[in-house]
Amino acid sequence: MIDPYGRPITSLRITLTQRCNLNCFYCHREGESGAERNEMTPEELGRIGRIAAELGIKRIKLTGGEPLVRADIVDIVRVLALYVEEVSLTTNGTLLESLAEPLKETGLARVNVSLDTLDSGKYMSITNNSIHGVQNVMRGIKRAAEAGLNPVKINTVLLRGINDEELDAMIDFTAEAGAILQLIEFETTKEGEGTEEYRKYHADLRPVEKRLERMAEEVRYNELHRRKKYLFHRNGRPAEVEIVRPMHNSEFCANCKRIRLTSEGLLRGCLLTTYGSTDLLTPMRSGADDDEIKEIFGKVVAMRRPYWMPVPESKKEESAAEVLK
Ligand code: 5AD
Repeated sequence: MIDPYGRPITSLRITLTQRCNLNCFYCHREGESGAERNEMTPEELGRIGRIAAELGIKRIKLTGGEPLVRADIVDIVRVLALYVEEVSLTTNGTLLESLAEPLKETGLARVNVSLDTLDSGKYMSITNNSIHGVQNVMRGIKRAAEAGLNPVKINTVLLRGINDEELDAMIDFTAEAGAILQLIEFETTKEGEGTEEYRKYHADLRPVEKRLERMAEEVRYNELHRRKKYLFHRNGRPAEVEIVRPMHNSEFCANCKRIRLTSEGLLRGCLLTTYGSTDLLTPMRSGADDDEIKEIFGKVVAMRRPYWMPVPESKKEESAAEVLK
């Protein structure tokens, strides 16, 4: 599958549930409301995985909500791993310590673990939760690396005034855990950019990039993601840092090879817009055959367009004129 902008579609992100045991204030909920509960069964997910693989999908990323709150998560991984080269998962890590090994054994390739701070007070306030502590997540990350779910990536959303002073401590922990640190820009839609919350907590990652450039022992370019990697050693152990800068970044969209399936079975071409989204689950539950399901994939891919488009030269001049005024 190749979309009208020449982007090959090789990856599928599946939201397994909207349920989550945390409630992070900045969370985009993978573009869902967080209210519905119409989860797909392992059998349904397996069929979708098989069809997607037949259409050229090579990687499946499982997400939520929190995917590990599903009691059948191990079954889901097992059935999807039959069809694609790589099944990975993004988790908040609260339930990872005891699940890392069983997940590895059933075919999970690797994990991304969301962790925005190492400070337990800040953790409680970011996640709006009083049960799951940050130590628990840190243990989960280490256990995942020991179980071989590598590379374990720590997803840290940079939040202005909250965790922007923690970069060094995060690099230390990343080295200690044997993980990779992904610093992620606080992301929202064009409409969301105007909200007070976004303006308050959004941090520009470009100065962070500059700082990493100065601090790192080595900077490498990752061809696959078209991203820079910053390499460090802490206490003799290596640590890698990557930056994910999606906002107003046409390069980011140009490089996007991913479609998404919501927890309710809606196939989407983009996180930030529902343009072109199509219900896949209802037809499937009403007896659609494989070809009909494939047509839905084709339709969604055909409607894909980059959310952040390159700024035309004329507009660039306009905005330069604005600045000079
Ligand atoms: N901006 C950027 N990243 C976000 N995530 C959740 N909400 C946002 C947001 N508004 C991250 C989580 C998780 C990943 C799935 O997305 O931290 O690691």
